Amino acid sequence: MMPDPTHPTPADDIRAALDSLRAQDLPTHGGRTLSYVYDSGLAEADAIGREALAAFASTNGLDPTAFPSLARLESELVALAAGLLHGPPSTVGVATSGGTESLVLAVLAARNGSPHVERPQVVAPSTVHAAVHKAGHLLGVDVVSVPVDPVTFRADPAAMAAAVTDDTVLLVASATSYAHGVVDPVAEIAAIARERGVRCHVDACIGGWVLPFLDDVPPWTFAVEGVTSISVDLHKYAYTPKGVSLLLHRDPALRRGHFFASAAWPGYTMLNTTLQSTKSGGPLAAAWAVVHAIGLDGYAELAKRARQACLEVACAVGDIDGLDVVVAPDSTLLALTTDERCDVFTIADEMGSRGWLVQPQMSFGDLPASLHLSLCAATADRVEELVTALTGATAEAVRRGRVQVDPQLAAAAASLDPAGLDDAAFDGLLTIAGLAGDGGAVQVPERMAEVNALLDVAPPPLREALLAAVLDRITRAGAGPRMPVVPDRPADPLTQLVRSSNL
Ligand SMILES: Cc1ncc(COP(=O)(O)O)c(C=O)c1O
Repeated sequence: MMPDPTHPTPADDIRAALDSLRAQDLPTHGGRTLSYVYDSGLAEADAIGREALAAFASTNGLDPTAFPSLARLESELVALAAGLLHGPPSTVGVATSGGTESLVLAVLAARNGSPHVERPQVVAPSTVHAAVHKAGHLLGVDVVSVPVDPVTFRADPAAMAAAVTDDTVLLVASATSYAHGVVDPVAEIAAIARERGVRCHVDACIGGWVLPFLDDVPPWTFAVEGVTSISVDLHKYAYTPKGVSLLLHRDPALRRGHFFASAAWPGYTMLNTTLQSTKSGGPLAAAWAVVHAIGLDGYAELAKRARQACLEVACAVGDIDGLDVVVAPDSTLLALTTDERCDVFTIADEMGSRGWLVQPQMSFGDLPASLHLSLCAATADRVEELVTALTGATAEAVRRGRVQVDPQLAAAAASLDPAGLDDAAFDGLLTIAGLAGDGGAVQVPERMAEVNALLDVAPPPLREALLAAVLDRITRAGAGPRMPVVPDRPADPLTQLVRSSNL
């Protein structure tokens, strides 16, 4: 039973309520959830991380002179990452709340570093993480999306060079890309950036704590001349609790553009290195604790286990009738696709019913719909189980056949302009899509294949608008208890005294 917020609730009841809510979530540990979460399988490292998270939960990174411990933890993590990523001694960095914030700051620094450019633009491969598009959207920067090579799924340096103009302030490459798990040709892209006198950011949010421990990886770090910044998330493959990414710059001048100071009000001078102002030191302390609990030797071991798991699954997929690897993986992420007899959306549902989360990815331009698997160390002992589940799920998907989207519905979706739709129209569309429950509330069905297949044929802007409508409806708060409105309640005697004495 959920507690009544009007009165104090005993701690045990609160625990029970939280436990019952958590029971509805995906498991964060156990190695069967192959996106969103990262599991080292090391219970002791998790425990010290949780301890540090709790111990530092109420500290505030707003002012590093008030909480010098946080400045120390941050600079030690930055120094460690700079060493891993071949940063020169001039390397500086910040800890952010996650990959998206790191990328927003990289774009912000590049934009502010070129104040003479009126309409700044970023040139990025079409596979770049959506967070770069978010950065462009927030910061008024155009993101020029350059199609990747359709065979290698890697950025096409020549096409990127052709897209650079005098307004370009930043080139981006991924190491690795999220959707297909490959490393872009960073050296070529950084060379273009250098030649044109612009910055080059490497998004290593997901690959940055794995690639340094693997062999045969093409160059992608600060060892490459022309790479000016790199983002690497600790809350992914450093297996730390959520809430920490690092953004590193080759030198302090490159970082200055995302610092913010304001003395334009009567309170404290606001000084921020990142987007957040008040920020809990909990995630940072937890990251520091876990990174030390595992150690670089430990990470080398974990990276090899996850890589091995990824390669074993990729090899086994070759023997699964109907399923295929999209491209040979460079790291620990795998993208899978199907032949024409079945679809990835049905396989994702079937995997769900077998206790595995694999994430469906829609088709995009010439790139096929696929399944995303982030393999972690904790999955390494379950590879056989995973392959058995994939084999069964694919066989069942072939038996069911591809989800057929009504051609009339597909044609209607293709012609809809989401900008012209109001709330009522979205309610209607969500009903057609099978996402509406009682009273207009959103109900996510257990099997999502039909919904996903419909979204897959919708043009990306309609996809975005429909899913935003779902999110809007899921996150509408119900009515909570209200404070009674007491008109003209007299102030209590002490307040009256203070007011009248002109203190
Ligand atoms: C390559 C890459 N960049 C950026 C991000 C965004 O990170 P976050 O979800 O922590 O904001 C991700 C997340 O998966 C990623 O894989």
